[in-house]
Amino acid sequence: MKPRYLSGIQATGTPHIGNYLGAIKNWVASQNDETDAFYMVADLHAITVQMPADEVRRNRLETMAGLLACGLDPHKVTLFFQSDVRAHCEMYWLLGSKAYFGELQRMTQFKSKGGGKQDVVSLDLFAYPVLQAADILLYQADFVPVGHDQVQHIELTRNIAARCNDSSPDLFKIPQPVVPTVGARVMNLQAPTSKMSKSDRAARNGVIMLTDDNDTIKTKVMRAVTDSENRIAYSGDQPGVQNLIEIICALTDSAPDEVLDQLAGQGYGALKSFVVDLLVETVEPIRTSIQELLAHPEDVFDKISVCTQTAQGVAEGTLSAARAAFGYGSPSAMTSAPPALQANHHHSGR
Ligand code: AQP
Repeated sequence: MKPRYLSGIQATGTPHIGNYLGAIKNWVASQNDETDAFYMVADLHAITVQMPADEVRRNRLETMAGLLACGLDPHKVTLFFQSDVRAHCEMYWLLGSKAYFGELQRMTQFKSKGGGKQDVVSLDLFAYPVLQAADILLYQADFVPVGHDQVQHIELTRNIAARCNDSSPDLFKIPQPVVPTVGARVMNLQAPTSKMSKSDRAARNGVIMLTDDNDTIKTKVMRAVTDSENRIAYSGDQPGVQNLIEIICALTDSAPDEVLDQLAGQGYGALKSFVVDLLVETVEPIRTSIQELLAHPEDVFDKISVCTQTAQGVAEGTLSAARAAFGYGSPSAMTSAPPALQANHHHSGR
């Protein structure tokens, strides 16, 4: 049986280099004959923060164009929009009965985005880790390739799945997070103790977008915050320099020691120039491809149309078993093998 991979990216606009190095690069690496991979634009998650409909429309298109431009191939992986698979919302409600208020309150993303503003924070922002659990469990995923910030949510997903399996054995596969050894937490270049994030509008100068032109990349990197040590070291005491080294490691698939050897005796100017060259080399072809895709938005939707049906089919299979396990629908749904045991028997026809 091929291992199943599943992951997603919020539809909050064009991806940035943190998304690429922490997640998308590994999704591209997973698209081969040995795996069965599903990747989604998590567009329902976009409205956990207030967003007008036009912006939702534009962001979901830009996010999908970003994934295609990074090299995800709808003929090799199932690439789809979460909102096109209605089963996510129904599964979310079922799983909500197994998620606890206290544990959702402890999610660091909720605390950082909604903490202190509980009177005006949306229910969706509070509950979205449950929707994320539905996103993953519907596809009976073995592995979930993510950046470091998502590990807590995968842990919650595992707990929810285990609680469901307690009363309905093998209803869900228990998924494992897969986090890269370098690039799992790319920091904002202007605030290297904060994660690079696309929704943090105030810190945009420290975020390398996959649509940035070469001059913009150069300006952002040359202005990256470092320190006054003037010593290239990979240390938590020098977060700005450490982040630049980490970016080099992730872009070149090298270990920090190798990069330190390569830059021995040089200053921060040389370090930054090296980062600029590598980023330009990676981002330029992706940027060009995004521009081409966005010039013909209907092609973006056409390219993934075959995948949507595949995703719907798999999700519906798990949902009907979950409905039966929770006491809904026709009793005959309970008589077939538990879905976690038949997960990889699906054939996409592609
Ligand atoms: N800085 C990062 N470094 C490494 N990996 C990252 N990921 C996100 N940021 C980094 C990984 O990218 C995948 C998609 O995550 P996302 O859609 O939550 O991306 P985001 O940039 O974090 O998006 P937002 O809209 O700005 O959300 P918030 O404000 O919540 O951070 C995931 O696998 C993630 O780990």
